[in-house]
Amino acid sequence: MPGFERLQGTLCVDGVSLDDVAARFGTPTYVYSGALIRARYAAFDEAFASHRHQVCYAVKANSNLSVLRLLAELGAGFDIVSGGELERVLRAGGDPARVVFSGVGKTAAEIERALDAGIGCFNVESEMELDRIEAIARARGVQAPVSVRVNPDVDAKTHPYISTGLKENKFGVPTGDVMGLYRRIENSDALRSLGIDCHIGSQLTDITPFLEALDRLLELVDALAAEGISVDHLDLGGGLGVKYDDESPPDLEAYARGITERVGDRPLALFFEPGRWIVGDAGVLVVRAEYLKENEGRGFLVVDGAMNDLLRPALYSAWHEIELVEARNEAATRALDIVGPVCESADFLGKERMLPARPGDLLAVRSAGAYGFGMSSNYNSRGRAAEVLVDDGEARLVRRRETIEDQFAAELEGLA
Ligand code: LLP
Repeated sequence: MPGFERLQGTLCVDGVSLDDVAARFGTPTYVYSGALIRARYAAFDEAFASHRHQVCYAVKANSNLSVLRLLAELGAGFDIVSGGELERVLRAGGDPARVVFSGVGKTAAEIERALDAGIGCFNVESEMELDRIEAIARARGVQAPVSVRVNPDVDAKTHPYISTGLKENKFGVPTGDVMGLYRRIENSDALRSLGIDCHIGSQLTDITPFLEALDRLLELVDALAAEGISVDHLDLGGGLGVKYDDESPPDLEAYARGITERVGDRPLALFFEPGRWIVGDAGVLVVRAEYLKENEGRGFLVVDGAMNDLLRPALYSAWHEIELVEARNEAATRALDIVGPVCESADFLGKERMLPARPGDLLAVRSAGAYGFGMSSNYNSRGRAAEVLVDDGEARLVRRRETIEDQFAAELEGLA
């Protein structure tokens, strides 16, 4: 089985012990399973095998160059939201023609670079953005391929910070404005209507909102067709959830069946932008326990990883399973808050966990492959963690731990 499992009591990734990884590379360290990323990508791709489709991995979920390279080699497309992500995809050998560019704030420089690189499609989020893309494409004498990102006004029923398809969210174009934009695109010499797009949120654990959004997009596709405007693809975004705690995310087959049944025999390619589902379960953050302390009856295990390394618990009250790397044959006598050294009470990785942990122990914070390293920072002047990719049974350092010199390097004043 690809991924994480216990062998003789030790948590291993694709057969490599996390103890060994920590001994070689130190802590805190993100460790990814190449085999699980491959398996997830293949499963997603195969689920839509009956239909013309393109899987555009959402780079923001985990943008490590080696992870992107692995996915590029599998033939993945990419969903990007910044010029930086585009450069990462290109550096990792991704095919620009399989890149879709989402995001509400594309700068002129980002649009220019994306056009010059020959990206597959702009997912346009406003009329002003469309004007800007048109002007830049015209100045270059090219036609920009575009999709309008529709805001279908459906409730994704997920955390409000990662819900994007409601009319009060900043994302996409209200359905009532969509037809007008496509008419404009049709009449422009510098724009080409390639697709239609939406992304309603992340970590969805119910399939219904996806299908509601799809129904609204299909109504629009049919209305466009009635006016003689055709689009070649429908991009349903990302958002398929994973299991962190006791959620029961929809199963991939049900998701695929629900979608392909509704699309029917319309001649549309289906595009997807999954991030979390591909890499979320494929990563852990390995930390070491430094201190055990007691404050007014509450137990704290202070570890060397913190909110700057994994922000999700602090930002969304997200729950990540935390396990001892070496199983201990002992029942926990009390609940512990697993906290880092950062000077904020929001700095916790988990609360009230029954773990028989002691200082010196290694712990693995599970399901940290998505939105883990990518959201990390230098807060409290902490160097960002190392990243290790286990592939073909071998652990490789794919990003070295940051040093203080890395932090100094970008600062222009104050150096002696
Ligand atoms: N496409 C677009 C346009 C997106 O904005 C996103 C995620 C995705 C695709 C990928 O969604 P996924 O398949 O990974 O759910 N930091 C948050 C998640 C933010 C998601 C933002 N957009 C977290 O840690 O839960």
